[in-house]
Amino acid sequence: MMLRPATMGSPPRDLPGHVNAGPVFTCSLEHKALPMWSQLFVGPTDDARINAMPIVSGVWRGGATIFMRAVLKAYGATDRLVWVVDSFEGLPHPNATKYPADDRDKHHTYSLLRVDVEQVKENFKRYGLLDEQVRFLKGWFRDTLPSLAKQRWAVVRLDGDMYESTMDGLVNLYPNLSVGGYLIVDDYGAIPSCRQAVEDYRRAQGIDDPIQAIDWTGVFWRRSA
Ligand SMILES: C[S@@+](CC[C@H](N)C(=O)[O-])C[C@H]1O[C@@H](n2cnc3c(N)ncnc32)[C@H](O)[C@@H]1O
Repeated sequence: MMLRPATMGSPPRDLPGHVNAGPVFTCSLEHKALPMWSQLFVGPTDDARINAMPIVSGVWRGGATIFMRAVLKAYGATDRLVWVVDSFEGLPHPNATKYPADDRDKHHTYSLLRVDVEQVKENFKRYGLLDEQVRFLKGWFRDTLPSLAKQRWAVVRLDGDMYESTMDGLVNLYPNLSVGGYLIVDDYGAIPSCRQAVEDYRRAQGIDDPIQAIDWTGVFWRRSA
């Protein structure tokens, strides 16, 4: 793929949970995750593909979703969409009453994480990848994700940083992740509250598919049942 380095790269993070990417990066994508994403769309036969869609919940500048659209295009998959879901105005104020793990969370103060939807569309256009196979869903996850309850997912990538945002993604998207599909969590290693949301959800749902490290913070597991 010709997306490196402008759309890809793991930018240095010099504050807990804070992306210090500067203007050059479009995303904080985990390079090692790329082959497995592609695998979902390019199995050796049609039967080996998962006939479902990728979604990113927490897209920032859009790089992960741009890459997903590029994979679909590269392999001629015209039968599925890429979902780009974000507030496009940064993270929510913490609701510590409902989510104590988010108490004193500061992500809503990080202006770098506020990227307007028009800017994300511009980033897609830079690669010639803004078209009818890309769907934008704007708003807080708690309000928007329930509207996707009838969709099926091949890859769910969660990058909402906070406990609330991670849990909203899991509760609303994991039930419709295809068996064989991948659940990716970007901030599992970097942000304790994100990790706690993942562990709470897995315990509550009895999920024991092994968690595998992608890099120093990102993890994934493949849904087996
Ligand atoms: C760290 S950035 C995502 C980075 C991106 N996935 C990447 O690979 O570069 C977190 C994003 O999640 C969004 N976000 C976090 N919590 C949210 C929520 N509860 N509702 C809507 N958007 C949220 C923020 O607006 C921000 O764009």
